[in-house]
Amino acid sequence: MAVLWPTARGFAARLIRWHKRHGRHDLPWQNTTDPYRVWLSEIMLQQTQVATVIPYYLRFLERFPQLADLAAAPVEEVMALWSGLGYYARARNLHAAARAVITQHGGKFPRDPAVIAQLPGIGRSTANSIATFCFGAHAPILDGNVKRVLCRAFGIEGFPGSGAVEKRLWTLAAELMPVRHGAIHNQAQMDLGAMVCTRGKPRCEACPLAEICVARATGRTAELPQARPRREIPLRHATLLVMQHGKRVLLETRPPAGIWGGLLSLPELPAGADAQEWAERHFACRVIGVTCPRSGVPGTQSEPAPARCVPLGTFEHVFSHFRLNIAPLLLQVTPVPAVMEPGRQWQDLAGIESAALPAPIRRILEQLKPVQAGAQ
Ligand code: ADE
Repeated sequence: MAVLWPTARGFAARLIRWHKRHGRHDLPWQNTTDPYRVWLSEIMLQQTQVATVIPYYLRFLERFPQLADLAAAPVEEVMALWSGLGYYARARNLHAAARAVITQHGGKFPRDPAVIAQLPGIGRSTANSIATFCFGAHAPILDGNVKRVLCRAFGIEGFPGSGAVEKRLWTLAAELMPVRHGAIHNQAQMDLGAMVCTRGKPRCEACPLAEICVARATGRTAELPQARPRREIPLRHATLLVMQHGKRVLLETRPPAGIWGGLLSLPELPAGADAQEWAERHFACRVIGVTCPRSGVPGTQSEPAPARCVPLGTFEHVFSHFRLNIAPLLLQVTPVPAVMEPGRQWQDLAGIESAALPAPIRRILEQLKPVQAGAQ
C-alpha cells in the first residue's frame, strides 16, 4: 500500500466529513457556546470518559447553574460534588478559576485563548478548546486523544509527552487547522481518538484517515504513539486508622496540596507507631479494648487481631507517581470530652455518599456500614 502523506486540507476535510455522520453531537455540554458549561465539561473530561462524566456534570450544574454560583460556594462543597471523579486538583482549580473570573475579569469569561490559559488549571489545549467552541477562535488542540491520532496518522516516533515531540505535534496541529469549521475539526479529532483511533484495538476499518495513515500502512498502530519510557513506580504503605464510635468515624481534612488535597480522609498512623497509643494521644479518644498491632509493612509485623482493633482488608491504590498499599485498621473508640482540632470531624457513616471522600477511603467506609448495622 502506498503511503500518502496527509495534507492539511485532506486531513481536515476527511475528519469533518466523518464527524458529521459519526461524531458525537448530543452530549449535555454540546450545542451551547456558554464558556462556563464548555469549560466545566473540558475539565471533567480530562483523563475521564464521557459516560463517567455525564452524571457528575449534570449534578454539578444543578447545584452551580452559573459561574458566579460556583465562585460563591465554599471549596468543600465543590470537592464533595467532585468526590469519586478523581484528580481532585481539577476541582480546586476550577473553583479558584471561577473566583478569578469574578475578581479579575468582572465576571466575564475571557475570550482570548492566551488569557484563558492564565486561569488556574487551564492548559493551552483546554484554553484553545474553549475558545474555538465558544468564541470561534482559530486555535489547535492537543490532548491525549489528538496526540494519538497525529502520531499514528503521521508516523511520529518518540513519547508524545516529551518536550521535543510535543513541540512538533503542536506545530503539526496548527498546520492542520482548517480555515473554517475549527470547532468541528477540533471536536472531530477528539471523537476520532476516543471512538475509533483508540489506544488498544483501533477500528481502522471505520477510520476516515485509514488511507493516509502512516501507522496503518507500516503496520505500526500497536507501537504508536510510543509509550512513556518505563520507570519503576515506587510502592508505599499507609496504615489508616478507622476510629469508630457507634455510627461515626473520625475523619480529617487533607492539606490542600498533595494527594487527595482538601478532601476528607482517615488519619494515617506513622510507621512503627502503636495504634492505640497514637490514637489516644492525638485524637481525644479512648480505645475500647486491647493492644493493637503496630503499623508497618503489611504482613510483616501484624499480630493476631484483637477483638476491637481489627486490620481490615489491605489493598493497593495506584497514583500517577506511586502505588499505595493501604492497610486500614479498625479501632472501636469512645471520644473523651475535648475541643475537636480544626479540620477533624466525626462523620456519620450514613452520610458518606455526600462527603468529600477519595474513592479508596469511601471503599473502606462502605465496608463498615453492614458491620455498623449488625452492631446495633
Ligand atoms: N475530551 C476532552 N474534551 C472533549 C470533548 N469536547 N469531547 C469529547 N472528549 C473530550
